Amino acid sequence: MARITVERVKEILDREQKAYEEKHPKSREMFDKASQNLVGGVPMSWMRIWVGGFPIFVDKAQGIYIWDIDGHKYLDLCLGDTGGLCGHANQQIVDAITDQMRNRGTTTMLPTEDSIWVAEELKRRFGLPYWQILMTASDANRMALKVAREFTGRRLILAFNGTYHGTVDETLCVNILGNLINIPGLMGPIVPDPSIMTKMIEFNDIDALEEALSPQDVACVITEPVMTNVGIIKPQPGFHQALREITRKYGTLLLIDETHSMCAGPRGVTGEMGLEPDIFVVGKFIAGGYPAAALGFSREITEWFTNRKPWHTFFGFGGTLSGNATAVAGMKAALQHVLTEENFSRMIELAKRMEEGIARIIKENELGWYVERIGCRVEFRFMPEPPKNGAEALFHMVDYNPVDLIGEGLTGPLEELIHIYCANRNILLTPVHEMALVGPTATEEDIDHYVNVIGELVRELVS
Ligand SMILES: Cc1ncc(COP(=O)(O)O)c(C=O)c1O
Repeated sequence: MARITVERVKEILDREQKAYEEKHPKSREMFDKASQNLVGGVPMSWMRIWVGGFPIFVDKAQGIYIWDIDGHKYLDLCLGDTGGLCGHANQQIVDAITDQMRNRGTTTMLPTEDSIWVAEELKRRFGLPYWQILMTASDANRMALKVAREFTGRRLILAFNGTYHGTVDETLCVNILGNLINIPGLMGPIVPDPSIMTKMIEFNDIDALEEALSPQDVACVITEPVMTNVGIIKPQPGFHQALREITRKYGTLLLIDETHSMCAGPRGVTGEMGLEPDIFVVGKFIAGGYPAAALGFSREITEWFTNRKPWHTFFGFGGTLSGNATAVAGMKAALQHVLTEENFSRMIELAKRMEEGIARIIKENELGWYVERIGCRVEFRFMPEPPKNGAEALFHMVDYNPVDLIGEGLTGPLEELIHIYCANRNILLTPVHEMALVGPTATEEDIDHYVNVIGELVRELVS
């Protein structure tokens, strides 16, 4: 196995950091100015998790490219961490949204006909018969867990270790060797001891699932069908079938969150594998990046919901902007024109080309890394085999890694180097991941550019 030393990583990182600063004088200046009135110099704190010490300031984004205010054009493989999966400024989505806003009104707290089309289409793709529209996937997951608790009369929910479902306190915990704690750094946790709200076991562990659900005190299992937030973790054969059987056996609802994994195809993993969740969530890109999320329910839950008195209570569910006409128009356009079979098959073919390219680099340089793909999402990580669960992904990774990955921030020096090296060569990768999303207008040249840059970096690292 090739040895990559911390010293070599830091040496190149140092050089690249200087190059980043030299390349972005206007972004630096803008960041200093922004810091006077924006918390941390950004409109949203997450924008500080990019490498380089300050983020690039965007001039415009179109298709799968971003232009910054220093005049550089980037291949955008982050795509807003999936929010931009439809490509930026897609003409048909922009037309639908602007037509709605300009001619028909942005938000009225009344339904429009588009919502009927959207609900029928969501049913056709994902199987659930009834839908609500919310603003974000976090929102939809929070609402879903409330519904699940009320429906079942149970308080606990179960999530898998290493999971992320947005700003949902019940899932913002981590199981460290059997101890459940709030995720380190969690802002204002509702309870100091998350085991009051949550059970957390490992993905793919059917025995642990049976044991956790058998006391019949869990309202809902919330899961991605393929985990994506600590690298891609695929379900082992039989896992989804067992998950469905065991949840049904103990009266626990099953919530599938496809917010990332819909990159698998137009019907998501749920449609592709014929999964049968009771509740379903998808967000981020579903209206082309305009804030919107879809929350699907089974017939049984919907009948219970609509029989509640008063069923349409606004206490604890949704918000005044949820289901607004503009979001619904955006969803219709995204589903109709962009999230199509044809686009997905092209994106997936290109993602395979990327996966093969990265696999070749790993093999030729004997790196002891792996590359994994789900649909148009490709990610490589610094361990020899894909992990089976969150614990392996989170904690065992360090054992295999020749470079100390635990840095001061969320990324260690090797991750930081990969991101800054790419940024200096006009490629944006999703922060905190070595994750690349292939958008609808990507070309073979775009893919080869990325693979070549990773190859160039690896050659520098191992030489
Ligand atoms: C699987 C999954 N669900 C939900 C969310 C929350 O999405 P948002 O931040 O748009 O609310 C995320 C965010 O990364 C996610 O990865």
